Amino acid sequence: MNKIIDGKLVRDARANELMEKVKNIKDELTLVVISVGNDEASRVYVGQKEKMANKIGYSFLNLHYDEIEEEELIHKIEELNNDQKITGIIVQLPLPAYLNKEKIINAISPLKDVDGLTNYNLIKLIKKEECLIPCTPLGIMNLLDYYKINLETNIVIVGRSELVGLPLFHLLENRNATVTLCHSKTKNLGDITKNADILIVCVGKKELITKDMVKDGGIIIDVGINREDDKLYGDVSSLAMEKAQLMTPVPGGVGPMTVISLMENVYKAYCFQNKK
Ligand SMILES: NC(=O)c1ccc[n+]([C@@H]2O[C@H](COP(=O)([O-])OP(=O)(O)OC[C@H]3O[C@@H](n4cnc5c(N)ncnc54)[C@H](OP(=O)(O)O)[C@@H]3O)[C@@H](O)[C@H]2O)c1
Repeated sequence: MNKIIDGKLVRDARANELMEKVKNIKDELTLVVISVGNDEASRVYVGQKEKMANKIGYSFLNLHYDEIEEEELIHKIEELNNDQKITGIIVQLPLPAYLNKEKIINAISPLKDVDGLTNYNLIKLIKKEECLIPCTPLGIMNLLDYYKINLETNIVIVGRSELVGLPLFHLLENRNATVTLCHSKTKNLGDITKNADILIVCVGKKELITKDMVKDGGIIIDVGINREDDKLYGDVSSLAMEKAQLMTPVPGGVGPMTVISLMENVYKAYCFQNKK
């Protein structure tokens, strides 16, 4: 039996659906990615976003700065907020440490915040109101739904960042899951993860979760991306696959879903802006 949850397959299916919708609108949608500094992984991620934006039929603009003053960057974001030709804006993370990430992200208009990372959108999500949802949690929800996985069960999330774990907690709870949220201060992590019908790991530590820490017949979503000697590793040991009912690979699981979710958010932002 194939135990793989195939993110590329689901991404391609969703990309086809989105392309159809985009074909049917007369306006051109534009995604702007702002990047600062010379983070190698970020360069790869921006390239992946550009490729997918082109495929979907969006215009794509990468505003790259080797260095920029915080005030100048915020001024640039405000200009983009007021530019009717721009549909979505993201700031590629991580930003260099000299820049205030919170201040910069929250300068983005909530209607153009296609990464769903402004406080405005996070609060809306917690309050279960219509909003732009962060791309990785959105992609994970769509992946679970594609495979028709029942969410009204015991779900353990390891990692509570505002980018992944925290919004995911709220999205799952909103679908009547019983969710346990673990983090770096959680004691006896393995005792908790072992009871998870669905285990979602978003930490950033290579193979933190070993085979003995997962449930027989459980479902595992591995969000982690850890680079070592030009190879990618997840947060879950690949040996866990032997016990799992279903599991995402790294790469090829959650990563492709994050990129397509960003594209879906651009379309959603367009609909919000045009009250469709
Ligand atoms: N596939 C994708 O598309 C995608 C997208 C986004 C991120 N990622 C990957 O996902 C991983 C997490 O990203 P992130 O931005 O959420 O990271 P982050 O902001 O560094 O958050 C990591 C979380 O893991 C927790 N943690 C750290 N060590 C732990 C331990 N030993 N046991 C349990 N929890 C621990 C931290 O707990 P505290 O809160 O207590 O510090 C924190 O909540 C990274 O590998 C990243 O590259 C992948």
